[in-house]
Amino acid sequence: MGFLSRKPKSASVEVDDTHPIVEELKRMEEAVPERPAPAQGSQNPAPAPADPVSMPLTDEVSTETVEKTLPVTKTEDAEKVDEESGRMKASELIAPVRHEATEEVLESEPAVKHAEVIAFANQKGGVAKTTTTLNLAVAFAESGYRVLCIDLDPQGNLTMSQGIDPDKVEKSLYDVLVNDMPISEIIQHREIDIAVASIDLAGAEIAMSTKIGRERSLEKALKEVSGDYDFVCIDTPPSLGLLTINALTAATKVIVPVQCEYLSMRGLVQLQNTLKMIQENLNPAVKIEGILPTMLDARTVHAKEAVEILEENFGDLVFKSRIRKAIKFAEAPVKGASVLKYDSGSSAANYYRELAKEVLANGSS
Ligand SMILES: Nc1ncnc2c1ncn2[C@@H]1O[C@H](COP(=O)(O)OP(=O)(O)OP(=O)(O)O)[C@@H](O)[C@H]1O
Ligand SMILES: [Mg+2]
Repeated sequence: MGFLSRKPKSASVEVDDTHPIVEELKRMEEAVPERPAPAQGSQNPAPAPADPVSMPLTDEVSTETVEKTLPVTKTEDAEKVDEESGRMKASELIAPVRHEATEEVLESEPAVKHAEVIAFANQKGGVAKTTTTLNLAVAFAESGYRVLCIDLDPQGNLTMSQGIDPDKVEKSLYDVLVNDMPISEIIQHREIDIAVASIDLAGAEIAMSTKIGRERSLEKALKEVSGDYDFVCIDTPPSLGLLTINALTAATKVIVPVQCEYLSMRGLVQLQNTLKMIQENLNPAVKIEGILPTMLDARTVHAKEAVEILEENFGDLVFKSRIRKAIKFAEAPVKGASVLKYDSGSSAANYYRELAKEVLANGSS
């Protein structure tokens, strides 16, 4: 079955144009409609509020779009105003932004090694995304790597599994994604460093929907700390909404945990379609690192068949490592610990040490 040799990962799928996220991204990509010019003789027309629905997908705003969108008020410096149109010169509007961007590039270019960013994603709930994010992160840390975990799920399970109550968290990823707070301000230090979730993260998708470049908020926030870590491990919610899109846009690799009992091929194809869309529109570099069979009960025929089906469909994208069922995985989070800390010598802990070895052998860091 080609199981022992890991071929180059080249699984590609047709993009399903009817997928809701394809439609959503297409809709978001539509250009900003022309806004009527300010009425003649108007002394101080109030700038019209931006229309969130028609905002462009990224912050790469064209000169023409800016000219059309922002009317000029009388209080602005006359030299910066185009005499013919009476609007602010595009160069005046765009120049400071470009300057800032150049500085950002220069700042991020010293010979510091940037973190490998791994998103753990599957829109199906309860497949061990959070368990895998934490335990693999701790396994990397045990091997001497510097690791940051990001809890991008409003349920806050990753935050809880490090003994932090998301209901009592004051500053969280909500503030980072919505209010541009530096991510360093919300990182707490436990077994690994963790950027915490709070209950209000549930409102982040709606609050972010009016932001330009909303799907790049996490990617931008990570630039601040990217040189400080070898791995950034992002736990995502069980959906393909804006939070997960932020994770996939910031990521270099995606690990897809799959519960062998309730295998959903349709769900996996849908995830691949979404990823292909992210590759085409937002992040060409992201790729699937591997599909991870979890909660495996090797004694049952059904579980064996489920793994075979995975391998037949996804070939060497399926990890060789297997995460078997163990009660310790349910016990450890209650103690606010990873399985590697809760019972370091257990076979449950070793499943994730094996996975860490496999990921490292595949060329990460
Ligand atoms: N290998 C395992 N054996 C037994 N139980 C496990 C295993 N892995 C995870 N679990 C348990 O299964 C439940 C779901 O796991 P987890 O929370 O990691 O899934 P998830 O994909 O993050 O869920 P959600 O989609 O809700 O975020 C948890 O109670 C967890 O402790
Ligand atoms: Mg989870």
